[in-house]
Amino acid sequence: MLPDVLPDAAIDLGGGVVLALRDSGTVDEMLRLTERNLDRLREWEGWAHGDQTRAGMVEYTEWNLAAWRGGTVAPMVIRVGGVPVGSISLRLEEDRRVAEIGWWIDGEWEGRGLVTRAAEALVELARRSDRIDVVQARIGLGNVRSRRVAERLGMSVERTLPGALQVGAVRHDAALYVLDVATAHQGDSSEEFDMSDISDV
Ligand SMILES: CC(C)(COP(=O)(O)OP(=O)(O)OC[C@H]1O[C@@H](n2cnc3c(N)ncnc32)[C@H](O)[C@@H]1OP(=O)(O)O)[C@@H](O)C(=O)NCCC(=O)NCCS
Repeated sequence: MLPDVLPDAAIDLGGGVVLALRDSGTVDEMLRLTERNLDRLREWEGWAHGDQTRAGMVEYTEWNLAAWRGGTVAPMVIRVGGVPVGSISLRLEEDRRVAEIGWWIDGEWEGRGLVTRAAEALVELARRSDRIDVVQARIGLGNVRSRRVAERLGMSVERTLPGALQVGAVRHDAALYVLDVATAHQGDSSEEFDMSDISDV
């Protein structure tokens, strides 16, 4: 079933903004987008300090797609007018019933509320999943923009995690943001949502 629906899997956020599955067709464009933003991504993203190669991007994309098929990751590209401008994902830790959300966006599209809108859509998926009780995000204490996004989503700091964020040579303290979505399950008679059904959203 899934390979057939993957190319069309998307959430339309309106105004030409779409969350599209990070499928194998995104490898080259996401590599270019990443390379263009590497200097600013290196401030807060540990992975951005590694080598950015096409082979690495293929491997990362395939890993995400396998996890998507397994129903544990929603790996999405934020597109505006078809053009990729950012990345956002939801990763389920099944045992803990926790989904970790992560995001980044092209510098030219920063500060326009796009990541907030994209994150709201993924939080809505989490609310509809019977497998997720909590959405969480680990954000550097000094990453004000990212913390603002989490707070705008209604997330709150559960605790701080000293030195939890290794970014290149620097170890940052992080805020563990959480959002309880379990209450949304109560009284919800709709069918259980599976991340692989994202095209139906
Ligand atoms: C963090 C990031 C994803 C935010 O994306 P974005 O599209 O700019 O986010 P939004 O526009 O939805 O919201 C940004 C918020 O920061 C606020 N903001 C913008 N510039 C700011 C600044 N210089 N200082 C403080 N707040 C700022 C905005 O007002 C907005 O808050 P509001 O919704 O309460 O008004 C983006 O800055 C980014 O890609 N950063 C680099 C990578 C990164 O840090 N990833 C996250 C790792 S946890």
